[in-house]
This record gives sequence, structure tokens and C-alpha cells, in this order.
Amino acid sequence: MKGIVLAGGTGSRLYPLTKVTNKHLLPVGSKPMIYYPIEKLTGAGIEEILIVTGTEHMGSVVNLLGSGKDFGCRFTYKVQDEAGGIAQALGLAENFAAGDAMTVILGDNVFQDDLGEAVASYPGKGASIMLKEVDDPTRYGVAELDGNRIIGIEEKPSKPKSRLCVTGVYMYDTEVFDYIRTLKPSGRGELEITDVNNHYIHKGSMRFSVMKGWWTDAGTPESLRRANELIYQMKNG
Ligand code: DAU
Repeated sequence: MKGIVLAGGTGSRLYPLTKVTNKHLLPVGSKPMIYYPIEKLTGAGIEEILIVTGTEHMGSVVNLLGSGKDFGCRFTYKVQDEAGGIAQALGLAENFAAGDAMTVILGDNVFQDDLGEAVASYPGKGASIMLKEVDDPTRYGVAELDGNRIIGIEEKPSKPKSRLCVTGVYMYDTEVFDYIRTLKPSGRGELEITDVNNHYIHKGSMRFSVMKGWWTDAGTPESLRRANELIYQMKNG
């Protein structure tokens, strides 16, 4: 199993905090945001990790993270020239994955659960996602369930079919790259990870679990504040 942290994008919702730096380098608790997804991967025993980020701040990201020896892993870096979407960023990982399965985490996701169990139970084929109940589902990809089956995901729906948000933690087999090649940009001009996930759902090869602990993204001023709060609360028991 390989690990991938997607840390590109513009961070426009956090402007001007992101005017001269990358969103994923902003502080959450006592560490830069990107440390959290990396530590979730290493905590699950993943030692080969690809970091994808944009051209502007790649230098800072490499300066911060180095070879990986401080984290007990090995980093590979890949540049995403423009913020063409999460699926586009993932598409850059094909050579790195080299036929192996991968756990992908969005660089602005901060959460409590360990990934060890999810990684260990991934069967090596198909896809697996993690869901979490949220109060404001219209901001996210939202899952529709039929009993114990996931039957579809809608990206930022105005009328969500559930309160189960699709978190930015995904597992894929190598077939994901064939599918990404066929994607067309969405209305917001991005290759959408939700289209990738719906492909696996329609093929009948998507599994899901629901996170037990807290989860948040940190991509807006309000959610960044929340991420800080949750990390401080956890540290102080
Ligand atoms: O956090 C979970 C949500 O993340 C999911 O529920 C949604 O289905 C998914 O589309 C995504 O929604 P966002 O609108 O929050 O995505 P955002 O554009 O904020 O990007 C999230 C991370 O993905 C970002 O921190 C870095 C990475 N990314 C994003 C883009 C657009 C890239 O690496 N490259 C990109 O081009």
C-alpha cells in the first residue's frame, strides 16, 4: 500500500492567509496542517508517500518535509501545474503507484480515527471511502445509502440525500488511473473525485466505513478554526 497526500489547489477560501503560502502549511495546533494526513499514513504503517502540490509553494513544502526521515517514511514529490481538481492531482500519481493500491488523503483533512484498521481491511481491489455525519452536508460530497449499500454520491448538493459527507480519505486500486483518463471537467472546471467514486459505485466495487471520531476539513476560515479547536481539545484530554 502506498500513500498519497494531495496538497495542491489555490486555497482561495482562506485568502489572504494563503496569499504568500500554501494552505497546507498553515498552523493547526502546534504543527503545519499537512503533518496530520502524513502522520495518519505513517501511523497505518505506510512508508512510501507521494506529496502533490502546486508550483508556487513546492519549494516551501520540500523545505518543510525533506526526505521523510523525520517522519519514518520516504517522500516523493510531484507538481500539479494548475488546480485542475482532486482527480487530476491523483492522476499524477500513476508512476509512483506502479501498480500498487493506494491510500489517498486530502491535505486539508484533520481527523481523529487511526487508519490502521481501514488499511488492513482493504481487499486490494476496488475502492473504499470513509464517511462522516456532518451538520452542513451541502459543502461536501454527500453519500446516498440504500440500507447498507452506497448507491451514489452528489458533489455539493443543494438538497442533500443524507448527512453523510464523503471525507477526503480514499483507497483505490491501480485501475483508478484508467478511469481518471476518461474524465471531463465539471461545471467548476475540475476533474472531480466524486466522478471517480461514482464510477466504482456503479461497477459495484465501492466499500465504505463511517468514521467513529471527529473529522473536519480546514479549507475555510470557520473550518480552520474548528480544526484548531478540535486538536487543542484532544491534546488537553
Ligand atoms: O474534504 C472533503 C471534501 O473534499 C469532499 O467531501 C468533496 O467531495 C471533495 O470534492 C472535496 O471538496 P472541497 O471543495 O473541500 O475540495 P477543495 O477544492 O477544497 O480541495 C481539497 C483538497 O484537495 C485541497 O486541500 C488540496 C487538494 N487539491 C484540490 C484541488 C482542487 C489538489 O491537490 N489539487 C486541486 O486541484
